[in-house]
Parts: sequence; structure tokens; C-alpha cells
Amino acid sequence: MAKPHVFVSRPVPQEAIDLLAKQCDVEVWESELPPPRADLLAKTKDAFGILSLLTDNIDAEFLDNAPRLRVAANMAVGFDNIDLAECTRRGVVASNTPEVLTDTTADFAFALLMAAARRVVEGADYVRAGKWQTWGPMLLLGQDVHHATLGLIGLGRIGAEVAKRAQGFSMRVIYHDVVRRPEIEKGLGIVYADLDTVLKEADFVSVHTPLTPQTHHLLSGPQLAKMKKTAVLVNTSRGPVVDPAALYAALKAGHLWAAALDVTEPEPIPMDNPLLTLPNCIIVPHIASASVKTRTRMAVLAAENILAVLNGQRPPTILNPEVLKS
Ligand code: DGY
Repeated sequence: MAKPHVFVSRPVPQEAIDLLAKQCDVEVWESELPPPRADLLAKTKDAFGILSLLTDNIDAEFLDNAPRLRVAANMAVGFDNIDLAECTRRGVVASNTPEVLTDTTADFAFALLMAAARRVVEGADYVRAGKWQTWGPMLLLGQDVHHATLGLIGLGRIGAEVAKRAQGFSMRVIYHDVVRRPEIEKGLGIVYADLDTVLKEADFVSVHTPLTPQTHHLLSGPQLAKMKKTAVLVNTSRGPVVDPAALYAALKAGHLWAAALDVTEPEPIPMDNPLLTLPNCIIVPHIASASVKTRTRMAVLAAENILAVLNGQRPPTILNPEVLKS
């Protein structure tokens, strides 16, 4: 019997491909760029499963085009690229990769926070540009991280891990989320506040909320205006949670001290976006989960989700368990 066809929409760690290949006919899109839409549709027309990335739109059109599809296994914790309702309506399992990337992403959020606070990228650029002539008492002065207030927007797994890291820097941590987390508040000694209070009191605001219609441009002009002039904004969630034009205006006008973005709207950020002209805005290419171990765990978990569907088992990190009942 022919093995079921699984399309993997970009090269991923080999462990995941090897795992899938035991039971599936695996086809990998061998390019660093995502498959153009027409290719994505052509490659998945008869597929049983797709190991998808956040750059693949798994929507109604995609699903209509792939009537045999049983599983869309996203190699990401975020799944705003997947129309979950449309998957469920068709009995297609959707899955993501939570947990395995939590620490790595939290580490990176903290790295961005530190880099922006202490002007690490500006300092490195300064040296490379041959500008370093002497020790300067006023050279590249930054903001202290230790004993400052960290404001978390979103206290899911990653937000909570960032809070833990902040303890090592003796920071006071406040957070806002749509759901209150008393057990985490107690465990970590952190305090819930409304969004305005977080924005007003925090020296560092780190965003950890998923992208939903409610969080789209959650941080726009009026919200950024509430932040301290000395504050730093860090975003490792999804680009569209922050309005880029408003962020540019705030940074340019000195209403905000610095920003560090792992994610932008759109991605990649267009080279003519004015944020790229600001020395106090660090932008990196959506790499918060990009460690060798974590990307391997993410790919393997996505593969395990596909194989579980194939073998009639419950996928470990299914997003729409209701499809299993039908
Ligand atoms: C995710 O998992 O959603 C990240 O954005 C990529 O690791």
C-alpha cells in the first residue's frame, strides 16, 4: 500500500523528516523561502498531512484544495496562520508546538531586553564603524535592568518564564492578561494590573500575547503614549500586536526610549520601513525560538502530531480535540 503523502513546507531538522519517513511519503520544499501559494496548493492537493510553518496560510481555500488532508501540524506555538474553525469543520486535526520552545523564547526576550537597555547593538556597530577612540564617561549610556519594573503583556508559559528570569535581576514584575493567574502571581511574587497601569509603571514592557482580532494593534499611539520616556518595549509575540507606524512616531519623538522586536508587521519588514533608520530600535528576523535543540524539538513534535493522526492516536498537542469525537 502506498504511504500517505506528507508535505513539509521548508527544510526542517532531519530528525523530524526521518521520523515521518518511517510511515509516510515525505516531500520537503527545498528552499529557504516559503512555497508560493500556487505551489503550496499543488503540493498538498492529495496530501494526508502538512508540516506547516507560520508562513503558510491554512485557510478555507487551502483546505478545499486538499480534500484528503487529515492533519495540519504547525511547527510553531502560534497558530494565527491556521483557520481553526475551518479545519474543525472539515475534521482536519490542527496542532502546534507549545512547551518545547518556552525557555528558549523566554531567554531571547530577555536577551533583547538587555540588548536594548544597554545598547549592545549600537555599541557593536560603533566599534565596527571604527568610532571607538577612548573610554568615554558619557558614551552609550543605557538603562539599568536590575531593580527596574518589568511589565508583561500576556502571562502564558513564555511570559511566566520571562518573569522568572526577571527575578534574577531583582526586578519588580507586573502583568496584564485577559485571564488572571493567581497561582503564578503567588509562586513568582508578581502582581496583576490593568493594561494602563502596566504601561505607565513599567520600565520594560515585554509582549507575550497571541495575535487575535482583540490583540491586533493592542499597542498603538494612545497606549505607547502612556509608557515612560525611559521605557523599552520588547516584542517576541507577533508583529501586528504593535502598530509599527505608532511605534516609529513614539521612538522618533523620544516618547519611548528604545524597542527590540523579534517580530514585525509585515514580515519581513520592508527595507524602507523607517523603524530601520532608528538606532534605538533593534529588529531581528523572528528568531526567538531558533536554537538547534529547540527547533529540533519543535519539528519532531510536529512530526509526532502527524504520525499520531495516521495511527489513530490522540496527537500530543492537538488544537481542536473536538474533531476526534466526530
Ligand atoms: C512560534 O512558535 O509561534 C514562534 O513565533 C516561532 O517559534
